[in-house]
Amino acid sequence: MINHSSEISSRDFGKNFLWGVAISAAQNEGAHAVDGRGPSIWDSYAKRKGKIRDDTKPFEACDFYHRYKDDLLLVKALGFTVFRFSISWSRVLPEGMGKVNKEGIAFYNSLIDECLKLGLTPFITLYHWDLPQALQKEGGWSSHLLLKWFGRFVTVCAEEFGDRVKNWIIINEPMGFTSLGYMLGKHAPGKMSLNEFLPAIHNAAMAQAEGGRIVRHLVKGSYIGTSFSCSEVMPYSSSAKDIEVANRMDILLNRLFIEPSLGMGYPDDHFVLMEKLNLFNKAWKYKERMKFDFDFIGIQNYFPITVKYNPLIPIVQASEVKAATRKVPHTDMGWEINADSFYRMLKRFDAYEAVKELIVTEGGAFFKDKMVNGMVNDELRIDYFQQYLAALLKAKHEGVAVKGYFAWTLMDNFEWAEGFHARFGLIHVDFKTQLRTVKQSGHWFRDFLSSKKERHL
Ligand code: GAL
Repeated sequence: MINHSSEISSRDFGKNFLWGVAISAAQNEGAHAVDGRGPSIWDSYAKRKGKIRDDTKPFEACDFYHRYKDDLLLVKALGFTVFRFSISWSRVLPEGMGKVNKEGIAFYNSLIDECLKLGLTPFITLYHWDLPQALQKEGGWSSHLLLKWFGRFVTVCAEEFGDRVKNWIIINEPMGFTSLGYMLGKHAPGKMSLNEFLPAIHNAAMAQAEGGRIVRHLVKGSYIGTSFSCSEVMPYSSSAKDIEVANRMDILLNRLFIEPSLGMGYPDDHFVLMEKLNLFNKAWKYKERMKFDFDFIGIQNYFPITVKYNPLIPIVQASEVKAATRKVPHTDMGWEINADSFYRMLKRFDAYEAVKELIVTEGGAFFKDKMVNGMVNDELRIDYFQQYLAALLKAKHEGVAVKGYFAWTLMDNFEWAEGFHARFGLIHVDFKTQLRTVKQSGHWFRDFLSSKKERHL
């Protein structure tokens, strides 16, 4: 077990360690039909009844589009020096292709300039799950045209913002949006089809490398990465069946996207889905094109999972044994809290020979915060960060090449299918009034970052 009882400080991570906070366009910006923005798949998906918890819509969200100046002041006040945000594709190219929306470009230019003015280093995520609806009508991530569309979007962003922004994350969690959006029907665009999932995987694997090449070509002095979700997979028992299905899930959750990006092709481990993936896309032809020499790999580890054999589940034949069932600590998302597992995943990703540097591009937790007398005393979240940062420091001391940690997330926002119910922020947002209130975890971060140990709660 990692000992986090002796409090650590940001100084322990060294002077050049990057401390950031992350947001994404669809979750924060709002202003969905303002200044020429086109609809994204999340706008359309949210209009379908029963898809988002409480049928809420992301149309206004945190209204970051109008409030970014004040929000950046909060980022600064909390002591972060890096700000990670994503570009809304349909704000920049309302139809996905074709005409560039000058007002959309102007918004991101002002956001970038404001960051620089405040001494915040911008990290741009190119794709954080909000495809233009116009492109979804033509097949979205499953379309053979995807690479062409994505190439144009990346080119526009690199040309417009690359003079000032040097840090780029090409795609956020390809496994997340391809599986939830094209196979499980739980996220936009709500598809449930292997025939859409297989090409979507392949197009995302190609796009992450192609996007890297475009940014490298257009942005002088760029530092380029892409972000992967990861979850250690534990078998529920030591039975051969449980171990076998845990291995399958491990391929899907931890290897499917990073290995082709490192030039290793798709994992090829006698798993029927991998055989289909290769056959469907004739993927062996593209080993070289799926490879890109990333400067860093972003890792996002929210939970480990425990699985057991279940013959009724197609393809993976695995079902999850939830943390609550196993009576282990978990967040209000139901996600197991396990900093030791985070430590092992850091070691594991660092061990790939072609990985140069890691950045934890997201880390955080949802707890049912309560506002009492204008204060949110979210001790559980503080404890979560303390545990995970101690694990990170241990890995770093043991030689893992980790260069930064970005907290998820600045403020409560639109948490995808969970709507506004699941609050991950360091800052509380009242969605009726847009009032921001720094939670105790935000104050804790400020003290941690300024290394004022004595001000710990
Ligand atoms: C990540 C995702 C974020 C955020 C977070 C918490 O997978 O990139 O946008 O929603 O999970 O669920």
